[in-house]
Amino acid sequence: ALAIWHQLTKSEIPELAKASVLMRDRSRVEDTIQAMQRAGPDALQVISDFDMTLSRFAHNGKRCPTTHNILDNDLLINDACKKMIRELLNTYYPIEIDATRTVEEKLPHMVEWWTSVHELLIQQKIRRDLLAQAVKQSSAMLREGYKVFFDQLQEQQVPLLIFSAGLGDILEEVIRQNHVFHPNVHVISNYMDFDQSGVLRAFKGQLIHTFNKREGALLHAAHFRELQERPNVLLLGDSLGDLTMADGVAHTQHALTIGFLNDQVEERKESYVNSYDIVLVKDETMDVPNAILNYIT
Ligand code: TMP
Ligand code: MG
Repeated sequence: ALAIWHQLTKSEIPELAKASVLMRDRSRVEDTIQAMQRAGPDALQVISDFDMTLSRFAHNGKRCPTTHNILDNDLLINDACKKMIRELLNTYYPIEIDATRTVEEKLPHMVEWWTSVHELLIQQKIRRDLLAQAVKQSSAMLREGYKVFFDQLQEQQVPLLIFSAGLGDILEEVIRQNHVFHPNVHVISNYMDFDQSGVLRAFKGQLIHTFNKREGALLHAAHFRELQERPNVLLLGDSLGDLTMADGVAHTQHALTIGFLNDQVEERKESYVNSYDIVLVKDETMDVPNAILNYIT
């Protein structure tokens, strides 16, 4: 019976049979998808990271920018600042993805990285009215199939929480310019605080970095309370820290986690397979999440 069960989902969701899809426990994944399908779209909520999860890691062999890196533009910051932000990236990104360090070891470095970059941005007196233009001029791209992903969730009225340690103002602009900032989208992120003349003066609220999303989730209890009649969670991320984004959901019934493994594949494969239910290796598309959503909604 088990073999037939596997066969069934395989024929319904052939995307899961691709070589780039890794699963620690395929039958658990299939059982969860079946259970979510029986409960239907009314019981579902989707929680997704933004940078390198909804947005692309690379395109034609070139890295795509994160929301922070979109600000690397003459319109907004000077050359000296650009250089410092790049140096910080070269210092701290390798720490963020280092498979040999624990989250506890990484934490202080992440706080240092974000704090330093945000201070530099404030010094540059960034103007709000130039952000849209900077996004337009950037090479930021959402993953292939993004439109089906966003549109499908909107049509089925499934809430999508985008939970990002990037910059909220920028990510909103990216999804707006791609025409997918639908009413079912809610964003938790780092937002800029502008003065009356529209110049950046601070960042709002509690800082969110890659490894404190659990605390961020608990601070937004009101959002999760509104969704408490939706106990099934589909979670998408690209960092192991993203797995804590659903910690604000009080009564989870079925959860399925999908992790994009973009970089340092060999070093991190084992920990990703141990942590995410489905791991997508160097996959720049939304094909697998879209196929699963198409099946369960
Ligand atoms: P995310 O939570 O939407 O993925 O955003 C966090 C990512 O942003 C994380 O992977 C590191 C990256 N980042 C930069 O690329 N440049 C920066 O200056 C900072 C502070 C973070
Ligand atoms: Mg990310």
